[in-house]
This record gives sequence, C-alpha cells and structure tokens, in this order.
Amino acid sequence: YRIAVFASGQGSNFQALLDASRAGGLGGAEIVLLVSDKPQAPVVERARTAGVDAFVFQPKAYARREDYEAEIAAELEERQVDLVVLAGYMRLLTAVLVDRYAGRMINIHPSLLPAFPGKDAIGQAREYGVKVTGVTVHLVDGGMDTGAVVAQTAVPLLPGDRIESLEERIHQAEKELYPQVVTWFAEGRIAVEGRKVTVKSV
Ligand code: GRF
Repeated sequence: YRIAVFASGQGSNFQALLDASRAGGLGGAEIVLLVSDKPQAPVVERARTAGVDAFVFQPKAYARREDYEAEIAAELEERQVDLVVLAGYMRLLTAVLVDRYAGRMINIHPSLLPAFPGKDAIGQAREYGVKVTGVTVHLVDGGMDTGAVVAQTAVPLLPGDRIESLEERIHQAEKELYPQVVTWFAEGRIAVEGRKVTVKSV
C-alpha cells in the first residue's frame, strides 16, 4: 500500500507517519513520495534525510493551480499511489487532484470540525473559549476543511493552559490519530457512502 504525503511546513506529522511505517506499524503502508510547495520547508529536509523521494515545486512558476496539480498527478500515478495524505499542506486543491483521488485523499485539521476551519484553528478555539477542542481527519474535497469526517479525537482545554501547552496536547493527539487512520485505509477497512464514512471491523 503506497502513500504520498503533502506538506508545507515542519513535517512533524510526516515524521510520525514515516516512523510508524518504518517500524512496521502502518498496516504495511509505505511513504513513496513527499510533495511540497515550499522548497525551504523543514519537511523537505526530513524527506532528504530519510531517503524519501520528494516532488518540490514553486507555485509562482505556474500560471494556474491546475498546471502544477497535473504534474503532481503524473508523479502520483507513476508511483501508483493508493492514498494521498495531506499533513499541513497549506493550499486548496482543484478538481485535477480532488476528482482523481476522491475517497482516497485525507487531511488532518487541529479542531473538531465543523468548528474552526481554516487557519489558526487552535487560536480560534482558545479565543472562542470552548472547553473541548481536538483533531479531525477528513476526506478532502474542493473546500476548506469541508470534506466528510473519518475520525476525531477530543482534546480538553485545561485551566491555566498556555497556547504552547494546548498546541503540544493537540499535536500529540494528531501523532496518534493520523497513523491509526492511515492504517485503517491500508487494511481496506474504510467505507465511504456520501458523507458517511465508517471503519469496518476485521
Ligand atoms: C498540524 O497541526 C495539522 O493539523 C495542520 O497543520 C499542522 C502541520 O504540522 N493541518 P506539521 O507540519 O505536521 O508539523
């Protein structure tokens, strides 16, 4: 089972998935490609260090999003990628990728969607004053964090929480949830019926 990870930043989720995979813990899934729109991003260096192929591009070098996405699609097809995993990829996708990988492309977002979509979800939740927030893994459609929910983990806000301690707790939850969900996909246990996504038991 072959996966590609898309990331624009630190890549701590990329690293967690890679570590799980190399420890044999992703249901046999292997990361065959990193896709990044940020040549300088730390995640690109992580891929190099780990010997994972990377397709790195400069969005500004293309007239339209569809143009670089067509190149990405070719890279994915060449490697026979089964699942596309977005991990801090900070761009919306067009139909070029969304249609091709419908039901086979997931994203992780640091809130309990549909609350707090978009940028700075952790800050938004804190600002709002909720007592519980969390992490969502969802299928990707053309919208911003709008696809069908696959799995969620609740994370409490604690009295005296600083933004750093809350972020730390959320990132910890991400590092547990994302490998779990990828494993379910690799094991063929995810069933999608419209917005209803279920995990079949083995
Ligand atoms: C994560 O918080 C993820 O939920 C969000 O972007 C962040 C990526 O962090 N979509 P990293 O690059 O994996 O460290």
